[in-house]
Amino acid sequence: MARIRGPISYKLRVVAIALVAAIFILYITLPDFGDGDSIFNKNASPKKGGSKIPWPRNQVQFPFERNGRIAGDKKKAEEVKAAMKRTFWKYRLGAWGADEIRPISGQTRTTRNGWAATIVDTLTTTAIMGLEEEFLLELNFTIHGIDFSNAIDLVDPFETTIRYLGALVSTVELIDAGVVPKALVSKLDRGAVLSQAVLLASKLAPGFNSPTGMIWPRINFTTNEGCREDLDQRPIPELDHATIGPARAGSNWLENKTLSKLTGNGEYERNATRSWKPLVWNKYVEEWPGLIDSPIDIMTGAPVDQHRSWGAGHDSYYEYLIKAHILAPNDPNSGKYRDRWVQAVESTMVNLMSWSTPGVGHEKGKLFLAQWRNGWLLNEMGHLACFAGGNFLLGGKYLGRKDIIQFGLDVIDACHETYVGSSTRIGPEYFSWMPANSAPNATYQPQHDGQREQLENLGYWITDARWMLRPETVESYFYAYRITGSKMYQDWAYDAFK
Ligand SMILES: *[C@@H]1O[C@H](CO)[C@@H](O)[C@H](O)[C@H]1NC(C)=O
Ligand SMILES: *[C@@H]1O[C@H](CO)[C@@H](O)[C@H](O)[C@H]1NC(C)=O
Ligand SMILES: *[C@@H]1O[C@H](CO)[C@@H](O)[C@H](O)[C@H]1NC(C)=O
Ligand SMILES: *[C@@H]1O[C@H](CO)[C@@H](O)[C@H](O)[C@H]1NC(C)=O
Ligand SMILES: *[C@@H]1O[C@H](CO)[C@@H](O)[C@H](O)[C@H]1NC(C)=O
Repeated sequence: MARIRGPISYKLRVVAIALVAAIFILYITLPDFGDGDSIFNKNASPKKGGSKIPWPRNQVQFPFERNGRIAGDKKKAEEVKAAMKRTFWKYRLGAWGADEIRPISGQTRTTRNGWAATIVDTLTTTAIMGLEEEFLLELNFTIHGIDFSNAIDLVDPFETTIRYLGALVSTVELIDAGVVPKALVSKLDRGAVLSQAVLLASKLAPGFNSPTGMIWPRINFTTNEGCREDLDQRPIPELDHATIGPARAGSNWLENKTLSKLTGNGEYERNATRSWKPLVWNKYVEEWPGLIDSPIDIMTGAPVDQHRSWGAGHDSYYEYLIKAHILAPNDPNSGKYRDRWVQAVESTMVNLMSWSTPGVGHEKGKLFLAQWRNGWLLNEMGHLACFAGGNFLLGGKYLGRKDIIQFGLDVIDACHETYVGSSTRIGPEYFSWMPANSAPNATYQPQHDGQREQLENLGYWITDARWMLRPETVESYFYAYRITGSKMYQDWAYDAFK
């Protein structure tokens, strides 16, 4: 059967290769997460007179220092930084100001409205790595070189929020937190970065102008109106109304919360809360509580198909629920966000988790995340969904749920398996397995001898062998390392980096 994977832009969650490097660096170099404000250091004690939601007792991060060791590995960290530096200067000399550079030909590409996606998206990477010269060049360009009020092409609010807006507000936060040395950035420049974020958010605002408050798939910056995708990219062509997956409606909240905090304007947060309301307070039947049927008609809020997944088009709605709960414990909806996340995870453990058939070297099988579509259990998982292992770990640890922690570790183990099974030791975009409990009836079966061989030797087979600068698996290793303290995950990340 045909796969619904959404338009290509759904899948490109991250363009810059440097982000992968950033994750490695974070993971390898920092002995601890910043200051006492970080959720990773936040300890048990409930705040005096604070929220009614009980503060979990669990410290999320493994107590490296208390156990007499630090997390860093200087030599590997330097190697990662060197790779970032080299990439930066290739781009600086050959493609400065372009969205992307083609790594082999050195040609440029305009894929993100021509606002220098690579520069903005890597601001936080150069900041965290302490690459001061590179950071300042990027900062200057971000302030003086980009006009966010003009766009090449229609603007995709989802991709724009997670890349540009996310990066801009994160950069301000890193400056405020002192990760970027105070002497390096003037108050004026900090303000200028924030102004860019505010300008961009104001241009995106019409995207939320729909009867449900759910965001339009695209925005026309000339007419300042929401609109549908290009006709040839429509997920469901016969439908008159625009439709979106949960990720689009649900991936504005963290950025908006932060923008409201930084500007003192609560409207950003209110708009983003309205945008994911139809999901969080879903009035349509959920056969599996917490798991949203998709795509959704933005005019009515009604699902037009039954696709349930942690992958492309769905992923960050679930991701943001638990992070919203953690980021905003005093928000009146904080408990609701937590409960919706727990519901979704529990339904996933019952309905979507799928052990693969055992084989040599994998006697227990591996735990993959399947998808559901119109009565079919799809035994295929995408690289994007590998973020879920880390997300389960974060929430499981934060809420003290041993079962969810184990679930997360098992998913991470399966994603790791797809990395080490390839000759490059980085993992594929899509892969399939035989579900241990219903193998003969599995929706997907290996199609040719190559795939049958993979199934026999690896316990899964590859259905799309590309690696599209995906950071999700390594991101999950990062959580696993920080939460369990096990060096094994550090080694796994370094293995992929090499
Ligand atoms: C800052 O950016 C502007 C616009 O791109 C450029 O003209 C100027 O040379 C840059 N300054 C530095 C110090 O890089
Ligand atoms: C925006 O809308 C105007 C007016 O309908 C149209 O001429 C233009 O082509 C649209 N822009 C894009 C990038 O599609
Ligand atoms: C916040 O939401 C507003 C409108 O709801 C939108 O214009 C903006 O892109 C969002 N901002 C961020 C930083 O996500
Ligand atoms: C909030 O959304 C409305 C559209 O519903 C928009 O007009 C307004 O500008 C948005 N506010 C902000 C601060 O983006
Ligand atoms: C396969 O599907 C058939 C028909 O739905 C069912 O009777 C049978 O039990 C299924 N087999 C397995 C192993 O799930």
